[in-house]
Amino acid sequence: MTNSDFPGSELTSVLAEPVSVSWQSPSNIALVKYWGKTWRQLPVNPSLSMTLSKAFTETRLTALPRITEGSVELDFWFEGKQNTAFGERIIKFLQSVTDIFPWLSQVALKLETHNTFPHSAGIASSASAFSALALCLCSLDMELNGVLLDETEFRQKASYVARLGSGSACRSLFPGFTVWGKSKALAGSSDLLAVLVSEIHPVFTKLKDTILIVTDKEKPVSSSEGHSRMIGHPFAEARIKQATRNTADLLEAMKTGNKNDFIRIVENEAFTLHALMMTSDNGFMLMHPETVRIISRIQEIRKETGLDICFTLDAGPNVHLLYFEDQIEQVNKLIVEDLLKNNEQNMRIDDFYGKGPVKIG
Ligand code: PMV
Repeated sequence: MTNSDFPGSELTSVLAEPVSVSWQSPSNIALVKYWGKTWRQLPVNPSLSMTLSKAFTETRLTALPRITEGSVELDFWFEGKQNTAFGERIIKFLQSVTDIFPWLSQVALKLETHNTFPHSAGIASSASAFSALALCLCSLDMELNGVLLDETEFRQKASYVARLGSGSACRSLFPGFTVWGKSKALAGSSDLLAVLVSEIHPVFTKLKDTILIVTDKEKPVSSSEGHSRMIGHPFAEARIKQATRNTADLLEAMKTGNKNDFIRIVENEAFTLHALMMTSDNGFMLMHPETVRIISRIQEIRKETGLDICFTLDAGPNVHLLYFEDQIEQVNKLIVEDLLKNNEQNMRIDDFYGKGPVKIG
């Protein structure tokens, strides 16, 4: 499958008046991590994530009449302010999808977007941002060109397009759990777009993710830079094998409701991601002393109390504490009285298993 599997068409007549569409799209947290890519955002290993609920981006995309055709023309607004720095990344992305949406050179665009969560909170804002934008592009395509797709085709196309903007974004198009990257353990899985995992034991459909904010400062090394450090990494081959096995084992644990295996695999993935960063050429570390303190406490408390809690980490220092519906009260007490007790930020975001994007206009 290539861009030409999603053929687009030009507008047959000049756009007479503005057309707008709006989508709300969530972020997601990877349980098996995508780390390392080739070519146009193709993953070197399969990944599995949970779509979040409260952390989302709202995006409104407007196509406006334009007199002369040419390269992409974008007026970009983030959180109510014009933003040229991020706007440039979006323009590059839009230029890369003009074969799918040829009308992008025939209209002027206004993009207005905002997040429901603070920047640098350990939540992948590029996942929600690019999935929302991909959905808006696919919806505008339908409005402007009368392209008709059924719900499944629409989500697949949006996932494919979102991937070209930010790899992890392609997993935000679906509710609950999603796999991106070819895995023998899941029929239909692909490197080009994400697919929904439908066989999930009910204990996991109410999974909670409280993000414990260690710092809200900008991280010193970006994800893109991190992915590139996997090229020629001494452990690359072993990592691909490990992620492939972890994806298969996690799918099995989630199908059967095996919480112990879930906890073991999720923590193994978080540790591996950060170990890969530290052992790459020009090694770097995104964990802070406070990250290490909190994750060590989570492991100790699990041993001491038998609570089914575990952690994962994104490419940053903040800790995602994962737990189940039946232990909310005990875990909440634990967060307040122990995990965040002497923490300077004392900030948390209580998120949970999400139902996927919503069209809001
Ligand atoms: O989608 P990107 O390029 O921002 O990379 C995301 C990488 C991780 O968040 C660390 C892992 C993942 O699978 O989301």
